[in-house]
Order: sequence, then C-alpha cells, then structure tokens
Amino acid sequence: MCGIVGYVGGQQATPLLLEGLARLEHRGYDSAGLALLGGTGIKVAKRAGRVRDLGDGLPKRFAGKVGIGHTRWATHGPANDVNAHPHTDARGRVAVVHNGIIDNAAALRHRLTEQGVELASDTDTEVLAHLVAGSDADTLEGKVREALAEIEGTYGLAVLHADFPDRLVVARNGSPLIVGVGEREMFVASDLAAIVRHTTTVAHLEDGEIVTLTASGFTTARDTTVVDIDPEAYDAGEHESFMHKEMLEQPAAAERVLRGRLDDRFGTAHLGGLNMDARETRAIRRVKILGCGSAYYVGQMGAALVEELARIPADAEAASEFRYRNPIIEPDTLYVAVSQSGETIDTLLAVQEVRRKGGRVIGLVNVVGSAIARECDGGIYLHAGPEVAVASTKALTNMFLGFALLALQLGRVRDLSIADGRRLIAGLNRLPEQIQQVLDQEDALAEVAGRLADADSLFFVGRVRGYPVAREGAQKFKEISYRHAEAYQTSELKHGPLALISSEVPTVALVPADELADRNVGALHEIAARRGPLVVVTHEDVDLGELDALPHFWQRIVVPRNERELDPILLTIPLQLLAYHAALRLGHDIDKPRNLAKSVTVE
Ligand code: AGP
Repeated sequence: MCGIVGYVGGQQATPLLLEGLARLEHRGYDSAGLALLGGTGIKVAKRAGRVRDLGDGLPKRFAGKVGIGHTRWATHGPANDVNAHPHTDARGRVAVVHNGIIDNAAALRHRLTEQGVELASDTDTEVLAHLVAGSDADTLEGKVREALAEIEGTYGLAVLHADFPDRLVVARNGSPLIVGVGEREMFVASDLAAIVRHTTTVAHLEDGEIVTLTASGFTTARDTTVVDIDPEAYDAGEHESFMHKEMLEQPAAAERVLRGRLDDRFGTAHLGGLNMDARETRAIRRVKILGCGSAYYVGQMGAALVEELARIPADAEAASEFRYRNPIIEPDTLYVAVSQSGETIDTLLAVQEVRRKGGRVIGLVNVVGSAIARECDGGIYLHAGPEVAVASTKALTNMFLGFALLALQLGRVRDLSIADGRRLIAGLNRLPEQIQQVLDQEDALAEVAGRLADADSLFFVGRVRGYPVAREGAQKFKEISYRHAEAYQTSELKHGPLALISSEVPTVALVPADELADRNVGALHEIAARRGPLVVVTHEDVDLGELDALPHFWQRIVVPRNERELDPILLTIPLQLLAYHAALRLGHDIDKPRNLAKSVTVE
C-alpha cells in the first residue's frame, strides 16, 4: 500500500521515478504522481489510475534532476487526481509524498483553514506541505523537523522545496524508507524493489530520522550495507507472472531457510537470531503466534508443530484482532510475529502491544530490516528472496519451515528425543526435492483447476494438521480467482455446510495418510452421496474405497510422504497451483488481484 521513490543526481529524474513507481505497483495503489525540481521551480503531475497512464500523460517539458514519486492507496478521501500525491502548499513551493497516516490531520486542517490556508485535497498529507511552507527554519531539514513536531501518526515521507533546489529531505516514523547510494546520485524508496536496479548500497532509516539527500551524499551517521540481492529477482523473466515464478522457486527457497541451521549431531536446529539461551528457551510455557491472512494460517500450522514436537501449548491468533481484546501478556509465553513483508500494520501493532506489556516477541520475517523485524527481540529470517506477487507462496513455505526449525529447537531442550530430532532433520532435508515433485504435477493440476474455476462456490476441507492447509487453500483460491471458497473442518461438514453440497459445489479435500484418514474418507462418501464433485489431495497409500470410480470424482492428487508433522507444507503446494491455474483460466491479473495490496500498512 502506497509507495515512495525519490532521486537526486545528474540524470533526468522522470524515467527513474516512473520505473521505480512501476516496480512498486505490486504493493497496491489507485493513483500515482511525480514532482520535479527544475529551473522554474516545482512541477507536479498526478492522476488516478496506473503509473503507465501517468507516464503517457506527462507534459512535454517535464524535466528536472531532483524529484519524488508516489503510488497512493486511498485512505483519507477518494482515489482521484486531486488526492493523489505529491501534495503542495498554496504557492507550489513545497511538494510532499507520504506513506502512513497522520492521526491529528483533522485538527491540523482546521487550524490551517482558520489561518486562511485553502486546502485543495481531502488528504491528511496535504497539511504537511503547508506546515513545511509555513516554517521559519533556515534549512529544509529544519523546516521538515518543525512540521513533523506538529504531527501525530506514522510516516515515511520525502519533501522538495523550491528554495533548496539541490536536495530532498526524507523522514521516517513507522513506515519504511531506504536510502540508496549511487555514483554522485542518491535514491530513496519505501521498498528496495524501486531502486535495486540502480544501487544495492543502502541504508535503512530508523524511526525518528530526518535526512537530507544531495547528489553527493546524505546526512546520517548510519552505516550503509550492500544488499546481497540479484536485481533479476525483481523480474518475472520468462514466467507469465511473479506468482508462477515464485511458486517454482520454492525448492530453492526452502533450501535457503534450512541452510546452516540443522545440526544432525544433536538432532536440533541452531537459531542464533532468537537471542535466547537454553535456560530461557526451557522456561517457555506457552507459544502464541501472531500474523494476518495467510501468515496467520501458516501460524496455525506452526502452532501444531510446536505442540507436537515441543509439547508446549501453542496457538495462533489473527494479529488484527489481538490488541483489541486487551490480551493477557505472560512472562513465560514466547510471542511469535510472522510476516512476509515485515510491514503489516496489524502485526506490527500486535508486536508493540506485547512489548509494551513486557512480553518477549520473536519475528519470522522475510524482509530484512523491516519494521516488524526491527521491533522484535530476536527472530528467524526466512530467506525466501523478494516476493512480488500479492498471493504469497514461497514466503509461506519458508514460514512453515521456520516454525519447524523453531519447534525442533524448543523440542530438543525439552523432551524431544535425539532420534526424533534426527528423523525430523532428515524429513526437512527431503522437502525441497519433494516440493519439486509436487510442482512437476503442474499440468495435471492445471486441468482440474480449470474445472474448479467454473464453480461459483467451493469448499476446502481438512482435519487437525490439514485444517490450516484448507484455510490457506481457500484463501489463495479466493484471493486470485475471486470465487467463493470456504474452508471447513471435514468433521464439521455434517453440522451445517453439508446442506450446500450439490453437483455445482466442488470440494477440495485434504486426506493425508494419518490417523484420521479413514474418518476423512468416510466424510467424503457423504459428499459423494450428494453428488458433490471431489478433488482429493492425499498420499499414495490412502485407500479411497470406491470413491475414485464415481463420475463426480474429479481428481486424486498425490503428494509425496514425509514425516507426518511436515505433511502440511506438501499438501499446501498443490493448492497454490490450483488457485493459480483457476485464476489464469479466468483471465485475472494474477499478481495484482483486485482490492488487495502486497503490504497492508494501514489498519
Ligand atoms: C497472502 O497470499 C495474502 N496476500 C495475505 O493474506 C498476507 O499473507 C497477509 O496480508 C499478511 O502479509 P505479511 O505476511 O506481509 O504480513
């Protein structure tokens, strides 16, 4: 949601800014804009719609070597040309782009209006432009500092001022900003994706920092780091979408998250980033996992792993609900925040709530240096590589593996035997190849996905370990195919939803070869008796009885067997491919599903 890119240097800024904005499109937006500092002051172009439309509609002489750009996801006021960023003061001497929310915008707007300022837009951001313009400070940094002193809320922002034509000033509080260092040029962006093709030497700003960028450098004592990311990782390459690319990257991503963290000698995992010694680890009496959407569902898979391997009571909760029920924070509970982006505001606020009450939180986060990663007491980076598609795949797989590592380590300081630890390690090591075996079934999965795409409504069902898998399968299907998909515990069907089963409503059922396989098959017979089409994701040795002979039995999808604790992830992979091919068949924009954003940075 919302993206910022800025440039100061020797090149024309417009193409760099437009390219950067295009790289931020996946975050979700409804309008876009640019402001440039040229010989005649500040020029602004902005409009509702796509970045491409903004570029196509730019005036001929839209030149300048200092500039800022923005993609906006509407919060205060509708998505229209006026509300798009950048926002300017009345004289057009100051331009601001802003991510985040100004909580006291209404009061500031009122005060400015009383002072005779005419506000052009409905946004919270516009007040910043007027406050900067109204400051008497001598420097642009000083003016921005004065303006921000009046602000309550969150921001990542970039400011241009016609009186200071060689610079831009950026500031961060709760919304990420990365400064990129080039050859006599500087970049700023809310996401590495926007600038990584131009520089990999970056500095992540901290909350509270206000920094001036000129072509020759920037005013912060912060060390720069060189990020080890191949810019190609931000290209879909030969794939028709990022989601397809990212699904296929899962075997390699899985290897990365496991690399160097498995210790066969002691049958355990090494997770130095947790910042906890064995004594502290042993003292944990409960594990509470917090995440949103798919991260929450994987959190449920993770809770099951922790309970099974470490025998510590564990559960997952939607981070978006957590802080609103005044949660009891216990000193011997380990709180785990799980997030691909590390920016999800609900998860971040849940982390802050736990820490405010003195709890210990670790993060399972993919984006290095992100807000959630910084806020936690320790954590496990997921090393899935950049994930661009809104529908998360490889990061979720690595979340599951992160939980397996955590559960293994927690288990091995308690009662999990070394033999069981080694059994799990062997299983984890087999997973990348087995994930590949599932991906190799893509053609068959595409065929049945085409049939599922024709249904207006479908069920995903599973039990115990399979239930969070069903939830994630339904979520992925909804997200990109826009079909109604509902997850249920297989055992609960007869308590209500069975009434909906008919030849028009298919069910995707998860039936691993576990202690519940026979009962699961029994429930599928009840669906079959009502002529409900069935797609069954299962293991080779599960006996489905006569089911596969029925005309409305659509497909048996076989996933490889591993240790049963690790079943959920191999059961999840085919559901990604089903969702993907259903959406492809329906002709949807797979990487940018309607109404959704990659990073949900507003509540
Ligand atoms: C996943 O496919 C979804 N796009 C969504 O549910 C996502 O998992 C959720 O918004 C949490 O995002 P995060 O992992 O970046 O915190």
